[in-house]
Amino acid sequence: MDYENIYIEEENNIGTITINRPKKLNALNKRTIEELHVAFKELDEDADTKVIIVTGSGEKAFVAGADISEFAHFSVKEGRQLAAMGQKRLFDFVENLSTPVIAAVNGFALGGGLELAMACHFRVASTNARMGLPEVSLGVIPGYGGTQRLPQLVGKGRAMEMIMTAGMIDADKAFSFGLVNHVVSPEELLPLCIKIASRISNNSAVAVKQAIKVVNAGFKYDVDGYAAEIDAFGHCFGTDDFREGTSAFLEKRKADFSGS
Ligand code: COA
Repeated sequence: MDYENIYIEEENNIGTITINRPKKLNALNKRTIEELHVAFKELDEDADTKVIIVTGSGEKAFVAGADISEFAHFSVKEGRQLAAMGQKRLFDFVENLSTPVIAAVNGFALGGGLELAMACHFRVASTNARMGLPEVSLGVIPGYGGTQRLPQLVGKGRAMEMIMTAGMIDADKAFSFGLVNHVVSPEELLPLCIKIASRISNNSAVAVKQAIKVVNAGFKYDVDGYAAEIDAFGHCFGTDDFREGTSAFLEKRKADFSGS
């Protein structure tokens, strides 16, 4: 696929996807959502990519939301389809990816932008980041998983207040809520994400993949997370990485994981 609204850089086993519609504050139109789906899929299927970072271009925004101009005239049926397709192609897809995904929140992360950041496995913000779910100010509600993931991350009461007021919180408040794991200056944002990604990429990719799957299992209403953990734990014992990791420890050397 030829990308118009995103670009990808790959270095040292880390793939960085940059959403690139700065004039529209990187708002997610249909094409951008599809490009992101394809990009995440390609990077996930590439064994050399150990971690994915997603960020926004420009100095102002991560993503300022779903593209309002695209859905302003939608019917009930189209609105429903918009949420269903978006959740399937991008938000649930990212959350359930085997490759770890870090959101580098470099400015406004509003509506679908915050929902994308929340679908990532964790978030790092720059001091100028502003986060919120402003949908009720537009007469709609979050439709890309925001009503579910925000309470999971910050607790029900805080999520209710953020959603009902449609207000924005700054990076420090997001940190105090547990919505982002770190807050650094804009210049330090990508270097810190890369540093964290490098630490992850030194570990067993196959074990990291199982860990993502099992943590996510605990948040699914129809899956027993503890049972999923037992299965995944057992699965690890059949992998080359388990043999390598345990042997390396006993032999007092650094593990060299193959990811299988
Ligand atoms: N959808 C479509 N276009 C958007 C957008 C969105 N979610 N967010 C910003 N844009 C566009 C603006 O329309 C504007 O385009 P224009 O220059 O062609 O008029 C451009 O991006 C710059 O935005 P602007 O509003 O001029 O910037 P600002 O600094 O004054 O305000 C925000 C920044 C983020 C506060 C403001 O853009 C905003 O409130 N955006 C919508 C946020 C939102 O409600 N998101 C949830 C959608 S469900």
